[in-house]
Amino acid sequence: MSMPASSSSGTLKIGIIGFGSFAQFLAKTILKQGHTLQATSRTDYSELCCQMGISFFRDTNTFLEADNDVILISTSILSLSKVIKSLPLNLLKRPTLFVDVLSVKEHPREILLQALPEDLDLLCTHPMFGPESGKDGWKDLTFAYEKVRIRDEATCTCFLQIFESEGCRMEEMSCEEHDKLAAKSQFLTHTIGRMLAEMEIKSTPIDTKGFKTLVQLKESTMGTSSDLFSGLFVHNRFAKQELEHLEHALHKVKETLLQKKNQERVATENEQ
Ligand SMILES: NC(=O)c1ccc[n+]([C@@H]2O[C@H](COP(=O)([O-])OP(=O)(O)OC[C@H]3O[C@@H](n4cnc5c(N)ncnc54)[C@H](OP(=O)(O)O)[C@@H]3O)[C@@H](O)[C@H]2O)c1
Repeated sequence: MSMPASSSSGTLKIGIIGFGSFAQFLAKTILKQGHTLQATSRTDYSELCCQMGISFFRDTNTFLEADNDVILISTSILSLSKVIKSLPLNLLKRPTLFVDVLSVKEHPREILLQALPEDLDLLCTHPMFGPESGKDGWKDLTFAYEKVRIRDEATCTCFLQIFESEGCRMEEMSCEEHDKLAAKSQFLTHTIGRMLAEMEIKSTPIDTKGFKTLVQLKESTMGTSSDLFSGLFVHNRFAKQELEHLEHALHKVKETLLQKKNQERVATENEQ
């Protein structure tokens, strides 16, 4: 395998755009593997980056001029379009691999294909875990990706290796397939977690295992940002239907219970 331009040791120079909680979580493992990181973000993370051994750029021009093998996009789903439009991509010195880690996939694929010049490669990914579920390592956690436009296979393979070498289950699939499946799984999970938070469920002295799972679900869901949750709905065209399925299911369950209650009442009245 030929090595990426900046390195002959198989390590990459990766520039991160959007250094929020998920990027910080990814950065720890990427650094541990010996890659070099740079970052830029709306908020000033200079101090945190300095502690972690990452160069932080307030100015996106200087960030783009720095010679990165990979640009890793970890902004919120809702801000992606604005962030990408504000990037002076003409300042990139050479073909670079763009990777996004957004929790929806058709949307960044479309935005990035529109914005990136032809000579930039694009890998759309979704690590299906976060700071909570991945706190004890990434082994057996799923990493979904689509190689949208890859000419420099060596850099792409080297990037995927970051997740493969941690033991992730690598799932190559189209962005469309990802969004269909994620609406039925991840979006549903977050929606139920948010509903449980609306209900303010809390542990009781007599929790069953099932209820403990619900409390955990509520807590882990509320650990993610409301922007992330909104993004899962706004920019996944399959999510609306799942929300309707959920409403319909609650309605059916309620109807069945009320019918039962009615039957019981009639039976009791007939016995008397
Ligand atoms: N958390 C997870 O478990 C998880 C798992 C897989 C994938 N992801 C994806 O990773 C990305 C980051 O997620 P997250 O958990 O860190 O939280 P998030 O709320 O989805 O995104 C926070 C990031 O977006 C940036 N941002 C938000 N609004 C912005 C704006 N108007 N202009 C410029 N930048 C803006 C923030 O920048 P500043 O910090 O500089 O303000 C921060 O870097 C998301 O796309 C999410 O879908 C998250």
